[in-house]
Amino acid sequence: MTKKTIETLETELTSAITGAADIDALEQLRIRALGKKGAITDLMKTLGRMSPEERQTEGPLMNGLKTRIGEMIAARKTDLEAAALAARISEETLDVSLPVRPGPEGRIHPVSQVLDEICEIFADMGFAVAEGPDIEDDFHNFTALNMPPEHPARQMHDTFYLPAEEGGERMVLRTHTSPVQIRTMSSQKPPIRIIAPGRTYRSDSDATHTPMFHQVEGLVIDESTHMGHLKGCLEAFVSAFFEVDDVEMRFRPSYFPFTEPSAEVDIRCVFKDGELRVGEGDDWLEILGCGMVNPKVLEYCDLDPERYQGFAFGCGIDRLAMLKYGMNDLRAFFDSDLRWLRHYGFAALDIPTLGGGLSR
Ligand code: PHE
Repeated sequence: MTKKTIETLETELTSAITGAADIDALEQLRIRALGKKGAITDLMKTLGRMSPEERQTEGPLMNGLKTRIGEMIAARKTDLEAAALAARISEETLDVSLPVRPGPEGRIHPVSQVLDEICEIFADMGFAVAEGPDIEDDFHNFTALNMPPEHPARQMHDTFYLPAEEGGERMVLRTHTSPVQIRTMSSQKPPIRIIAPGRTYRSDSDATHTPMFHQVEGLVIDESTHMGHLKGCLEAFVSAFFEVDDVEMRFRPSYFPFTEPSAEVDIRCVFKDGELRVGEGDDWLEILGCGMVNPKVLEYCDLDPERYQGFAFGCGIDRLAMLKYGMNDLRAFFDSDLRWLRHYGFAALDIPTLGGGLSR
Protein backbone atom coordinates (compact mmCIF):
# COMPACT_ATOMS: atom_id res chain seq x y z
CA MET A 1 0.00 0.00 0.00
CA THR A 2 2.69 2.50 1.06
CA LYS A 3 4.87 1.28 -1.75
CA LYS A 4 2.11 2.09 -4.15
CA THR A 5 1.71 5.58 -2.61
CA ILE A 6 5.43 6.16 -2.84
CA GLU A 7 5.58 5.18 -6.50
CA THR A 8 2.62 7.40 -7.38
CA LEU A 9 4.08 10.31 -5.45
CA GLU A 10 7.45 9.82 -7.15
CA THR A 11 5.87 9.75 -10.60
CA GLU A 12 3.86 12.86 -9.87
CA LEU A 13 6.74 14.77 -8.39
CA THR A 14 9.14 13.71 -11.13
CA SER A 15 6.93 15.02 -13.88
CA ALA A 16 6.21 18.19 -11.87
CA ILE A 17 9.91 18.80 -11.37
CA THR A 18 10.74 18.24 -15.02
CA GLY A 19 7.87 20.54 -15.96
CA ALA A 20 8.81 23.35 -13.52
CA ALA A 21 9.08 26.40 -15.73
CA ASP A 22 11.32 28.49 -13.51
CA ILE A 23 13.13 28.64 -10.22
CA ASP A 24 10.11 30.04 -8.36
CA ALA A 25 7.86 27.21 -9.53
CA LEU A 26 10.56 24.72 -8.55
CA GLU A 27 10.85 26.24 -5.10
CA GLN A 28 7.07 25.98 -4.59
CA LEU A 29 7.35 22.38 -5.60
CA ARG A 30 10.19 21.75 -3.14
CA ILE A 31 8.10 23.19 -0.31
CA ARG A 32 5.15 21.09 -1.30
CA ALA A 33 7.27 17.92 -1.29
CA LEU A 34 9.99 18.42 1.29
CA GLY A 35 8.84 21.45 3.33
CA LYS A 36 7.51 21.19 6.90
CA LYS A 37 4.09 20.28 5.63
CA GLY A 38 5.24 18.72 2.42
CA ALA A 39 3.97 15.43 1.04
CA ILE A 40 7.17 13.51 1.66
CA THR A 41 7.55 15.01 5.13
CA ASP A 42 4.02 13.95 5.93
CA LEU A 43 4.81 10.51 4.66
CA MET A 44 7.92 10.29 6.84
CA LYS A 45 5.82 11.24 9.87
CA THR A 46 3.77 8.04 9.41
CA LEU A 47 6.91 6.04 10.23
CA GLY A 48 6.42 6.87 13.92
CA ARG A 49 3.14 5.11 13.97
CA MET A 50 4.41 1.95 12.36
CA SER A 51 5.49 -1.30 13.90
CA PRO A 52 9.27 -1.88 13.91
CA GLU A 53 8.96 -4.48 11.12
CA GLU A 54 6.92 -2.20 8.93
CA ARG A 55 9.36 0.61 9.62
CA GLN A 56 12.22 -1.58 8.48
CA THR A 57 10.73 -2.01 5.02
CA GLU A 58 8.99 1.38 4.71
CA GLY A 59 11.84 3.45 6.15
CA PRO A 60 14.37 2.78 3.37
CA LEU A 61 11.66 3.24 0.72
CA MET A 62 10.69 6.64 2.06
CA ASN A 63 14.27 7.74 2.59
CA GLY A 64 15.09 6.63 -0.92
CA LEU A 65 12.21 8.72 -2.26
CA LYS A 66 13.29 11.72 -0.21
CA THR A 67 16.88 11.47 -1.44
CA ARG A 68 15.94 10.98 -5.09
CA ILE A 69 13.43 13.84 -5.11
CA GLY A 70 15.91 16.12 -3.31
CA GLU A 71 18.60 15.31 -5.89
CA MET A 72 16.19 15.76 -8.75
CA ILE A 73 15.14 19.20 -7.49
CA ALA A 74 18.79 20.23 -7.07
CA ALA A 75 19.64 19.07 -10.60
CA ARG A 76 16.64 20.85 -12.07
CA LYS A 77 17.59 23.98 -10.15
CA THR A 78 21.09 23.94 -11.67
CA ASP A 79 19.60 23.54 -15.14
CA LEU A 80 17.09 26.34 -14.65
CA GLU A 81 19.77 28.66 -13.29
CA ALA A 82 22.05 27.96 -16.26
CA ALA A 83 19.17 28.58 -18.68
CA ALA A 84 18.25 31.82 -16.90
CA LEU A 85 21.85 33.02 -17.08
CA ALA A 86 22.15 32.14 -20.79
CA ALA A 87 18.91 34.02 -21.48
CA ARG A 88 20.16 37.08 -19.60
CA ILE A 89 23.51 37.06 -21.41
CA SER A 90 21.89 36.91 -24.81
CA GLU A 91 19.44 39.64 -23.85
CA GLU A 92 21.80 42.11 -22.21
CA THR A 93 24.37 42.56 -25.00
CA LEU A 94 26.72 45.46 -24.55
CA ASP A 95 28.48 47.04 -27.57
CA VAL A 96 31.98 47.67 -26.36
CA SER A 97 33.35 48.88 -29.70
CA LEU A 98 34.09 52.61 -30.08
CA PRO A 99 32.85 54.49 -33.11
CA VAL A 100 35.60 55.08 -35.68
CA ARG A 101 37.16 58.48 -35.16
CA PRO A 102 36.80 60.89 -38.04
CA GLY A 103 40.14 61.64 -39.76
CA PRO A 104 41.87 64.94 -39.04
CA GLU A 105 40.08 67.68 -40.94
CA GLY A 106 42.74 70.36 -41.32
CA ARG A 107 45.25 70.48 -44.16
CA ILE A 108 48.90 71.44 -44.05
CA HIS A 109 49.62 74.58 -46.07
CA PRO A 110 52.01 74.00 -48.99
CA VAL A 111 54.48 76.48 -47.47
CA SER A 112 54.58 74.48 -44.23
CA GLN A 113 54.90 71.27 -46.21
CA VAL A 114 57.81 72.57 -48.29
CA LEU A 115 59.43 74.00 -45.18
CA ASP A 116 59.23 70.59 -43.48
CA GLU A 117 60.69 68.98 -46.59
CA ILE A 118 63.59 71.45 -46.68
CA CYS A 119 64.35 70.97 -42.98
CA GLU A 120 64.26 67.20 -43.43
CA ILE A 121 66.75 67.33 -46.32
CA PHE A 122 69.20 69.67 -44.59
CA ALA A 123 68.89 67.93 -41.22
CA ASP A 124 70.07 64.81 -43.02
CA MET A 125 73.16 66.74 -44.16
CA GLY A 126 73.89 67.80 -40.59
CA PHE A 127 72.42 71.32 -40.61
CA ALA A 128 70.73 72.83 -37.55
CA VAL A 129 67.78 75.23 -37.78
CA ALA A 130 68.44 78.82 -36.65
CA GLU A 131 65.99 81.66 -36.18
CA GLY A 132 65.94 85.45 -35.96
CA PRO A 133 63.34 88.17 -35.47
CA ASP A 134 61.01 89.41 -38.23
CA ILE A 135 61.52 92.99 -37.04
CA GLU A 136 65.21 93.65 -37.56
CA ASP A 137 67.55 96.53 -36.97
CA ASP A 138 69.39 98.21 -39.79
CA PHE A 139 72.71 96.74 -38.70
CA HIS A 140 71.70 93.08 -39.03
CA ASN A 141 69.53 93.49 -42.14
CA PHE A 142 71.96 95.72 -44.05
CA THR A 143 75.16 97.12 -42.56
CA ALA A 144 76.71 93.90 -41.28
CA LEU A 145 75.85 92.30 -44.60
CA ASN A 146 78.17 94.78 -46.25
CA MET A 147 75.44 97.22 -47.23
CA PRO A 148 76.47 100.46 -45.51
CA PRO A 149 73.83 103.26 -45.32
CA GLU A 150 74.39 104.68 -48.79
CA HIS A 151 74.90 101.35 -50.53
CA PRO A 152 72.84 101.11 -53.74
CA ALA A 153 71.91 97.46 -53.09
CA ARG A 154 69.63 98.65 -50.29
CA GLN A 155 67.37 100.08 -52.97
CA MET A 156 66.79 96.62 -54.44
CA HIS A 157 65.05 95.55 -51.29
CA ASP A 158 61.78 97.57 -51.28
CA THR A 159 62.06 97.79 -47.54
CA PHE A 160 59.18 98.25 -45.12
CA TYR A 161 60.32 100.68 -42.42
CA LEU A 162 58.77 100.98 -38.98
CA PRO A 163 58.26 104.46 -37.47
CA ALA A 164 61.48 105.90 -36.06
CA GLU A 165 62.27 105.03 -32.45
CA GLU A 166 63.23 107.60 -29.83
CA GLY A 167 66.94 107.19 -30.41
CA GLY A 168 66.32 107.87 -34.09
CA GLU A 169 66.76 104.32 -35.45
CA ARG A 170 64.15 102.93 -37.77
CA MET A 171 63.57 99.20 -37.47
CA VAL A 172 62.71 97.27 -40.62
CA LEU A 173 60.70 94.19 -41.49
CA ARG A 174 63.58 91.98 -42.54
CA THR A 175 63.92 91.94 -46.31
CA HIS A 176 65.68 88.57 -46.36
CA THR A 177 66.74 85.82 -43.98
CA SER A 178 70.42 86.83 -44.30
CA PRO A 179 70.41 88.77 -40.98
CA VAL A 180 70.21 85.35 -39.31
CA GLN A 181 73.70 84.72 -40.76
CA ILE A 182 74.96 87.69 -38.77
CA ARG A 183 73.12 86.68 -35.59
CA THR A 184 74.48 83.14 -35.84
CA MET A 185 78.08 84.10 -36.60
CA SER A 186 78.06 86.66 -33.77
CA SER A 187 76.83 84.19 -31.19
CA GLN A 188 78.42 80.89 -32.25
CA LYS A 189 81.96 79.83 -32.99
CA PRO A 190 82.66 77.87 -36.20
CA PRO A 191 82.20 75.23 -37.39
CA ILE A 192 78.72 76.53 -38.25
CA ARG A 193 76.21 74.68 -40.36
CA ILE A 194 72.69 76.13 -40.23
CA ILE A 195 69.60 76.81 -42.25
CA ALA A 196 67.32 79.69 -41.28
CA PRO A 197 63.80 79.48 -42.69
CA GLY A 198 61.29 82.22 -42.03
CA ARG A 199 59.10 85.13 -43.12
CA THR A 200 60.54 88.01 -45.08
CA TYR A 201 58.98 91.26 -46.32
CA ARG A 202 59.27 93.52 -49.34
CA SER A 203 56.91 96.10 -50.76
CA ASP A 204 55.97 94.22 -53.90
CA SER A 205 52.80 92.52 -55.14
CA ASP A 206 51.90 90.61 -58.30
CA ALA A 207 51.28 86.98 -59.31
CA THR A 208 54.76 85.93 -58.19
CA HIS A 209 55.43 88.47 -55.41
CA THR A 210 53.61 89.09 -52.15
CA PRO A 211 54.61 91.68 -49.51
CA MET A 212 55.21 88.84 -47.07
CA PHE A 213 56.97 85.76 -48.38
CA HIS A 214 59.27 83.01 -47.11
CA GLN A 215 62.94 82.34 -47.54
CA VAL A 216 65.40 79.80 -46.31
CA GLU A 217 68.97 80.83 -45.67
CA GLY A 218 71.88 78.43 -45.54
CA LEU A 219 75.25 79.09 -43.92
CA VAL A 220 78.36 76.96 -43.56
CA ILE A 221 81.48 78.38 -41.92
CA ASP A 222 84.69 76.58 -41.00
CA GLU A 223 88.34 76.67 -42.03
CA SER A 224 88.24 74.88 -45.35
CA THR A 225 84.76 74.99 -46.94
CA HIS A 226 84.95 76.11 -50.57
CA MET A 227 82.78 76.72 -53.63
CA GLY A 228 82.88 73.01 -54.57
CA HIS A 229 81.17 72.20 -51.29
CA LEU A 230 78.54 74.82 -52.05
CA LYS A 231 77.83 73.24 -55.42
CA GLY A 232 77.69 69.72 -54.02
CA CYS A 233 75.42 70.77 -51.18
CA LEU A 234 72.97 72.59 -53.45
CA GLU A 235 72.95 69.74 -55.94
CA ALA A 236 72.11 67.25 -53.20
CA PHE A 237 69.37 69.56 -51.98
CA VAL A 238 67.76 70.20 -55.37
CA SER A 239 67.79 66.54 -56.34
CA ALA A 240 66.26 65.49 -52.99
CA PHE A 241 63.69 68.29 -53.08
CA PHE A 242 62.47 67.73 -56.64
CA GLU A 243 62.82 63.98 -56.18
CA VAL A 244 64.83 63.45 -59.38
CA ASP A 245 68.22 61.76 -59.64
CA ASP A 246 69.78 63.99 -62.25
CA VAL A 247 69.35 67.72 -61.97
CA GLU A 248 71.40 69.91 -64.20
CA MET A 249 72.30 73.18 -62.51
CA ARG A 250 73.81 76.36 -63.87
CA PHE A 251 75.81 78.68 -61.65
CA ARG A 252 75.51 82.15 -63.18
CA PRO A 253 77.92 84.84 -61.91
CA SER A 254 75.97 87.43 -59.97
CA TYR A 255 76.34 90.03 -57.29
CA PHE A 256 75.38 90.17 -53.63
CA PRO A 257 77.19 92.56 -51.27
CA PHE A 258 77.54 89.82 -48.64
CA THR A 259 79.07 87.11 -50.82
CA GLU A 260 82.17 87.10 -53.01
CA PRO A 261 82.15 85.48 -55.49
CA SER A 262 78.38 85.31 -55.90
CA ALA A 263 76.18 83.24 -58.16
CA GLU A 264 72.59 82.70 -59.05
CA VAL A 265 71.54 79.11 -59.59
CA ASP A 266 69.26 77.95 -62.38
CA ILE A 267 67.92 74.44 -62.91
CA ARG A 268 67.19 72.79 -66.24
CA CYS A 269 63.49 72.21 -66.67
CA VAL A 270 60.52 72.26 -69.00
CA PHE A 271 56.82 73.01 -68.57
CA LYS A 272 54.89 70.13 -70.11
CA ASP A 273 51.12 69.59 -69.84
CA GLY A 274 50.87 72.25 -67.18
CA GLU A 275 53.47 70.67 -64.98
CA LEU A 276 57.11 71.40 -64.34
CA ARG A 277 59.62 68.67 -65.15
CA VAL A 278 62.98 69.20 -63.54
CA GLY A 279 66.10 67.79 -65.16
CA GLU A 280 64.78 67.77 -68.76
CA GLY A 281 63.95 70.29 -71.48
CA ASP A 282 65.59 73.52 -72.60
CA ASP A 283 64.39 76.07 -70.07
CA TRP A 284 66.40 77.38 -67.16
CA LEU A 285 64.70 78.51 -64.00
CA GLU A 286 66.38 80.62 -61.36
CA ILE A 287 65.86 79.17 -57.90
CA LEU A 288 68.36 80.74 -55.52
CA GLY A 289 71.24 83.11 -54.82
CA CYS A 290 74.48 82.06 -53.19
CA GLY A 291 78.19 82.62 -52.83
CA MET A 292 81.21 82.53 -50.56
CA VAL A 293 80.68 84.66 -47.46
CA ASN A 294 82.36 88.02 -47.99
CA PRO A 295 85.37 88.51 -45.65
CA LYS A 296 83.92 91.88 -44.65
CA VAL A 297 80.84 90.13 -43.28
CA LEU A 298 83.05 87.79 -41.24
CA GLU A 299 84.81 90.86 -39.82
CA TYR A 300 81.50 92.42 -38.80
CA CYS A 301 80.88 89.24 -36.83
CA ASP A 302 84.33 89.26 -35.20
CA LEU A 303 85.46 86.20 -37.09
CA ASP A 304 88.99 86.21 -38.50
CA PRO A 305 88.68 86.07 -42.31
CA GLU A 306 92.27 84.78 -42.52
CA ARG A 307 91.17 81.72 -40.61
CA TYR A 308 87.50 81.19 -41.44
CA GLN A 309 85.59 80.94 -44.68
CA GLY A 310 82.40 79.39 -45.96
CA PHE A 311 79.34 79.71 -48.11
CA ALA A 312 75.80 81.04 -47.87
CA PHE A 313 72.69 80.71 -49.96
CA GLY A 314 69.18 82.13 -49.90
CA CYS A 315 66.14 80.67 -51.55
CA GLY A 316 62.44 81.57 -51.83
CA ILE A 317 60.30 78.88 -50.22
CA ASP A 318 56.99 79.96 -51.79
CA ARG A 319 58.55 79.84 -55.21
CA LEU A 320 59.83 76.32 -54.61
CA ALA A 321 56.34 75.32 -53.48
CA MET A 322 54.79 76.84 -56.63
CA LEU A 323 57.26 75.00 -58.85
CA LYS A 324 56.99 71.65 -57.15
CA TYR A 325 53.25 71.56 -56.62
CA GLY A 326 52.07 73.41 -59.72
CA MET A 327 50.45 76.53 -58.28
CA ASN A 328 50.68 79.60 -60.46
CA ASP A 329 49.48 82.49 -58.33
CA LEU A 330 51.41 83.24 -55.17
CA ARG A 331 48.73 85.59 -53.84
CA ALA A 332 46.35 82.65 -53.32
CA PHE A 333 48.82 81.28 -50.75
CA PHE A 334 47.79 83.98 -48.32
CA ASP A 335 44.07 84.38 -49.12
CA SER A 336 43.01 81.87 -46.45
CA ASP A 337 40.53 80.38 -48.89
CA LEU A 338 39.60 76.96 -47.48
CA ARG A 339 38.70 75.60 -50.93
CA TRP A 340 42.24 76.35 -52.08
CA LEU A 341 43.74 74.81 -48.97
CA ARG A 342 41.64 71.66 -49.30
CA HIS A 343 42.83 71.30 -52.86
CA TYR A 344 46.51 72.15 -52.47
CA GLY A 345 47.00 71.28 -48.78
CA PHE A 346 48.63 68.15 -47.39
CA ALA A 347 47.34 65.49 -45.01
CA ALA A 348 48.16 66.42 -41.46
CA LEU A 349 49.81 63.16 -40.53
CA ASP A 350 51.91 62.60 -43.67
CA ILE A 351 55.10 64.04 -42.29
CA PRO A 352 57.77 64.27 -45.00
CA THR A 353 60.72 61.98 -44.45
CA LEU A 354 63.64 61.14 -46.70
CA GLY A 355 63.08 57.44 -46.14
CA GLY A 356 59.32 57.40 -46.60
CA GLY A 357 59.17 59.90 -49.47
CA LEU A 358 58.98 63.67 -49.14
CA SER A 359 55.67 64.30 -50.88
CA ARG A 360 53.50 61.20 -50.84
N1 PHE B 1 69.64 87.38 -49.34
C1 PHE B 1 69.61 87.20 -50.75
C2 PHE B 1 68.27 87.65 -51.30
O1 PHE B 1 67.36 87.80 -50.53
C3 PHE B 1 69.86 85.76 -51.14
C4 PHE B 1 71.22 85.29 -50.78
C5 PHE B 1 71.46 84.72 -49.55
C6 PHE B 1 72.28 85.39 -51.69
C7 PHE B 1 72.73 84.25 -49.23
C8 PHE B 1 73.52 84.94 -51.37
C9 PHE B 1 73.73 84.37 -50.17
O2 PHE B 1 68.11 87.85 -52.48
